[in-house]
Amino acid sequence: MRIFSGIQPSGEIHLGNYLAVIKPWLDLQTKNDCIFCVVDWHAITVPYEPKNLQRKIKEVATIYLTAGINPEKSIVFTQSVVKEHTELAWLLNTITPIGDLQRMTQFKEKSAKQIKNVCAGLLNYPILMAADILLYQTEIVPVGQDQKQHVELAREIARRFNAKFGETFTLPQAQIIKIGAKIMSLTEPNKKMSKSDKPETRIGLFDTPEQIKKKIGSSTTDSGKEIKYNPAEKPGVSNLLTIYSLLSDKTIKDLENEFAGQNYQAFKQKLSELLIEKLTPFRDKKSELENNPAIIDKILAHGASQAEKIAQQTMKKVRVAMGLL
Ligand code: TYM
Repeated sequence: MRIFSGIQPSGEIHLGNYLAVIKPWLDLQTKNDCIFCVVDWHAITVPYEPKNLQRKIKEVATIYLTAGINPEKSIVFTQSVVKEHTELAWLLNTITPIGDLQRMTQFKEKSAKQIKNVCAGLLNYPILMAADILLYQTEIVPVGQDQKQHVELAREIARRFNAKFGETFTLPQAQIIKIGAKIMSLTEPNKKMSKSDKPETRIGLFDTPEQIKKKIGSSTTDSGKEIKYNPAEKPGVSNLLTIYSLLSDKTIKDLENEFAGQNYQAFKQKLSELLIEKLTPFRDKKSELENNPAIIDKILAHGASQAEKIAQQTMKKVRVAMGLL
């Protein structure tokens, strides 16, 4: 099956991105035809620092590789290098009702945060995402909970295009993990962990052992003292149990048994140790790749040339279907 997914090179890539999205990519990559993109055109729809963008793009690519994405099996590339993404996005603009874009939850949330600077790109963001997905005739799009609505819109845009201009696109489907598709903030466990909130709300993949201990130690827990999964009544502990379960591949039930009778402090200490063990390779690999930046450049250039071939085939079909060729 053809798989496509991507992460924006903005803010700090965190545990939520890793556990809900990158980790499932690793299983998918063994049996499927996968494309993993660094979606830089999406990252510039909110205020950003141009001089940091190239560094952030490489950082995201480093995370993909450190996590275990194999560039000999999967295509890894930067969105803005393959120009067909913007060409298709423009064409899809012409068949997407503005109302569909205005009702997107993420648009409403992001535009409320930056009332003075809502650009057309922020509204049209899901169309660019649809172009990313449809260009590669994608069947499965592994994402976190917050992107499900955008993938559903991409499917609707594909369906509409096919009905109007003839069968052109594969209809994509979102794939979301059952538990952990929305990892919550460490300090406000009723809000999702986010790249753009304060550092203490999340674990960054390059956090040092000291930062991990401090953040987990001061993460919000709930009243009571039992280590029990109950998101409605114990959102803090339930979030930490979810993180522990995904990192250790143990079920939440097993963890509840393992920590029965122990207090929050003992549980947090074990979780910190596990996080330090799992995240140390990210920091090590980052410094290794930073010392040899040509490795990432080469992988991204190779990935872009592979992606471009597929994108060009789709664009040829699209132009013919729309009477542009
Ligand atoms: P982005 O960069 O915001 O997030 C990358 C992925 O991480 C997921 N995610 C989370 N999952 C669980 N818990 C959290 N707290 C959490 N926060 C973020 C997101 O759902 C996402 O899957 N628009 C996309 C990027 C994109 C894309 C695409 C994805 C552009 N084109 C095509 C798939 C296919 C985004 O902003 O992701």
